[in-house]
Amino acid sequence: MAVRAVLRMGDPRLLEPSRPVERFDTPELHALIADMDDTMKALNGAGLAAPQIGVGLQVAVFGVAFNPRYPDAEPVPYTILINPLLTPVGNQMEEGWEGCLSVPGMRGLVPRYRSLRYQGCDQFGKAIDRSVTGFHARVVQHECDHLAGILYPMRIRDLRNFGYNEELFPGEDVIEE
Ligand code: NI
Repeated sequence: MAVRAVLRMGDPRLLEPSRPVERFDTPELHALIADMDDTMKALNGAGLAAPQIGVGLQVAVFGVAFNPRYPDAEPVPYTILINPLLTPVGNQMEEGWEGCLSVPGMRGLVPRYRSLRYQGCDQFGKAIDRSVTGFHARVVQHECDHLAGILYPMRIRDLRNFGYNEELFPGEDVIEE
């Protein structure tokens, strides 16, 4: 389909809560997902939420294949997640570095629930119900935050842990989502 422009922090559309999808398996929904997929892949992202391309619907795509350049990033299955509901499992939080295609070139240390259950459905309306931990749980929380109008810098506890990739991690490749 098409690689779309990704909105950057400062664009007010990134701060608006998204609406639930009401009709599944429609040409419009498939076209949106194809564009999101093309955009995420073109930018080497780990995930993308519809508001990042200016569409205020509760749709996120994410997935991380094992990549030897990111040995710490556990693989996350490719997933299209619509109308998600997150339920933390326990209240353990952990800090981890995140980047975002809407905050390019930067990274911040963000607290997230270590374990959670997520429910929702795919583009055909088929139910998704998973319990996950660690990096997978982090990616889901990051994407679902986009659907609520929240960008990761808003969750950083200590802004000394926010900066440019090249300064924080010289010479390293980083993942944005
Ligand atoms: Ni993001």
